[in-house]
Amino acid sequence: MAKTVTICFANNKGGSGKSTTCANVGYDLSRMGYRVLLVDGDMQLNLSLSFFDEDRVLEMAQSEKNLYYAIRDQKDLTDYVVATPYENLDLIPSSTLMSQIEFDLFTKWQREYILKKSLENIKASGKYDFILLDTPPTLGGWVMNILCASDYLLIPVEASPWGLFGLANLFDFVARVRQIAPDLQTLGIAVTKVNERKNYFKQTFETLSELDNVYLFQSYIRVDASIEWAQDNSKPVEVYKASSRSAMEYRKLTEEVLSRVNR
Ligand SMILES: Nc1ncnc2c1ncn2[C@@H]1O[C@H](COP(=O)(O)OP(=O)(O)OP(=O)(O)O)[C@@H](O)[C@H]1O
Ligand SMILES: [Mg+2]
Repeated sequence: MAKTVTICFANNKGGSGKSTTCANVGYDLSRMGYRVLLVDGDMQLNLSLSFFDEDRVLEMAQSEKNLYYAIRDQKDLTDYVVATPYENLDLIPSSTLMSQIEFDLFTKWQREYILKKSLENIKASGKYDFILLDTPPTLGGWVMNILCASDYLLIPVEASPWGLFGLANLFDFVARVRQIAPDLQTLGIAVTKVNERKNYFKQTFETLSELDNVYLFQSYIRVDASIEWAQDNSKPVEVYKASSRSAMEYRKLTEEVLSRVNR
């Protein structure tokens, strides 16, 4: 039996494309026949909103069956999985209460590993090929939990003048997390929201390709209004408009992700 591969999408820079990339790579993997579980680790609920309308997302957020209560009460996450409208694609929803998770973690024994332990049974069941986790734009105890529960980190970076600012902090943080999670690997940096007519796209790509020890995905995602329309309709861009540029680019990125993970 192939193992369950866990990938988190993290960058402390807000708006870098974490949720969009997690949702669309997740959907594309499920479409290829892989069994995928998405975990919405952010109080903004954006990963959940990528698949369900606002009313349903708020209903899940207000119920007791969401990631916040599971982590606070250190429960097995098996009971918190909901099916999305798509085959092979499930989700663990989030809650706005995730904003206070740091306080709840603070007093807990071995607090860095709570998410990892909550996912143990799901991983052992072999039910999923991939678990993809979305993170908030922070670096703290909760993101540390997500990194400790992951085999790989994928870093979406926005091709903008401030897109690279703060990346050094992320690398420092990951280096510290590796002291307690030595198997965590950085899968690579994926550049998002690219406008090829702007000079800083070339600069961003050049700067990132010169970084040591970090792979730069050759597939990048350009700015495309279809992404926003798809999100407005709670759909992956592939479902909203398969012929769109970003749908094609996410398919390519997903292939490249697959070529880089060990399964
Ligand atoms: N390729 C794209 N083209 C156009 N808009 C995009 C694209 N990718 C993302 N966006 C938009 O950019 C914004 C930020 O994207 P997203 O929410 O995925 O980033 P994030 O890193 O998850 O943000 P946060 O740090 O707040 O969690 C969203 O409004 C999204 O609709
Ligand atoms: Mg997000």
